[in-house]
Amino acid sequence: MSFSELHKETETQLLSEVDKICEGFVVGPEKLAELTSYFIEQMEAGLKAGDSELGLPMIPSYVTGKPDGTEQGVLLAADLGGSNFRVCSVTLNGDHTFKMEQLKTRIPQELLEEQGVTSDDLFGYLARRTKAFLTRNHPELLRPDSNGALQPLKMGFTFSYPIAQTSLNSGTLIRWTKGFSIKDTVGKDVVELFQEQLKNYGLDMINIVALTNDTIGTFLTHCYTSGTALQAGSGEISEPVIGCIFGTGTNGCYMEKLDNIEKLPAKLKASLKKEGKDEMCINTEWGSFDNELKHLPTTCYDTDIDQKFSPNPGFHLFEKRVSGMYLGEILRNVLVDLHSRKLLLQQYRTHDQLPHRLKTPFELSSEVLARIEIDDSTTLREIELSFLQSLRLPTTYPERKAIQALVRAITRRSAYLASVPIAAILKKTGALEKRYHGEVEIGCDGSVVEYYPGFRSMLRHALALSPLGPEGERKIHLRISKDGSGVGAALCALVA
Ligand code: GLC
Repeated sequence: MSFSELHKETETQLLSEVDKICEGFVVGPEKLAELTSYFIEQMEAGLKAGDSELGLPMIPSYVTGKPDGTEQGVLLAADLGGSNFRVCSVTLNGDHTFKMEQLKTRIPQELLEEQGVTSDDLFGYLARRTKAFLTRNHPELLRPDSNGALQPLKMGFTFSYPIAQTSLNSGTLIRWTKGFSIKDTVGKDVVELFQEQLKNYGLDMINIVALTNDTIGTFLTHCYTSGTALQAGSGEISEPVIGCIFGTGTNGCYMEKLDNIEKLPAKLKASLKKEGKDEMCINTEWGSFDNELKHLPTTCYDTDIDQKFSPNPGFHLFEKRVSGMYLGEILRNVLVDLHSRKLLLQQYRTHDQLPHRLKTPFELSSEVLARIEIDDSTTLREIELSFLQSLRLPTTYPERKAIQALVRAITRRSAYLASVPIAAILKKTGALEKRYHGEVEIGCDGSVVEYYPGFRSMLRHALALSPLGPEGERKIHLRISKDGSGVGAALCALVA
């Protein structure tokens, strides 16, 4: 066989192998229906009292009402979530608008990765950033009054990791997700840890009055900015029902009837009802849907990533198939596998010879995938450049074709799976049937849903294929709700 014939044969083999791999990422309508009904089951199990390992976490947030946009006040907010820490001052104007000033810092790699990092290191860092923000943006708040005291300030703290929340302003970390692994934080009250460090840095006038999650923040912010969307005179009725995040991680929340939250103490429910409240916002922590893998589609790459490369093996398995932190890692694992089977990148003879970045877990970001997804040039030039830039990796045209097919399959699965919790919550709450022609709004935040090309339309497509059907899908408005973590924390702090 001549060299070029050999080459052609490898190409054909590559493309047929890639087809097979892509098949493994397909999620059809039947799977969507199966997953949706299992998701409802898992929500119900999670709302029951007892064994916290059963079902979804379904964490009560102690938020019992939706803002209507008339809220007013100036508050501080701190937000530790994905890759950044933000401190903000938020002015709620009471007319659905707000003003926000913020200091955003990338979380130093050593806090994420190094062994021996303690809670004090992390929360000390957050306190120092808070002080830096006040010094830069609000020096007046650091000047003592005539009695030598500083003006008291209320702060809302958005902490976007699984928390066992015990009241509006206390909760212990269940486990880290999205990269952190500081052991001594698990089981501790994160408000106390942060409050103590604020004190150490001379900021005892700050009182953390609310602890919340980015998904709750997104929901509340969407409610605040959109108002309860009874659009007067237009006949249009649409109601905010879900808040969700599709970014580094993924999660969602919704309002649940107090009567259905069996795990809330009866006494608390009774006293809330006396105050006229009958619902509470639930942080589902849907990232950990089906950690037992009874129904989630699983490829060998998902298993490897979870077991060999992720910081929390066995947990957040839904997130590991859906969120931005994992999309590039899935592609990287597929490419390394195809290389080991001598189907691509054959200029590198052994695994060791592969470019360092291709061998490094989590080095391929979802931004690179976004560029690959939409390259429609005849030579797939954008993909060529992206791979050169991000991985220092030259590629041939057939390799690029293979890479694009893989990226599209991986992201389509992510968007299709993303429809499952949305369909399940809408089914469980009956939100689409509440009013004649009633429509629902879903406040979304996160880099994937906001920036990944086609993600929202693939998600909509999956909603139409899901048990909601095309009629249900048409009643859903996916709205991007930005700055949820800051504004939402401020809204929480306001009600506290
Ligand atoms: C992870 C966290 C969750 C957060 C989500 C989105 O799933 O566990 O608390 O809301 O990421 O940031």
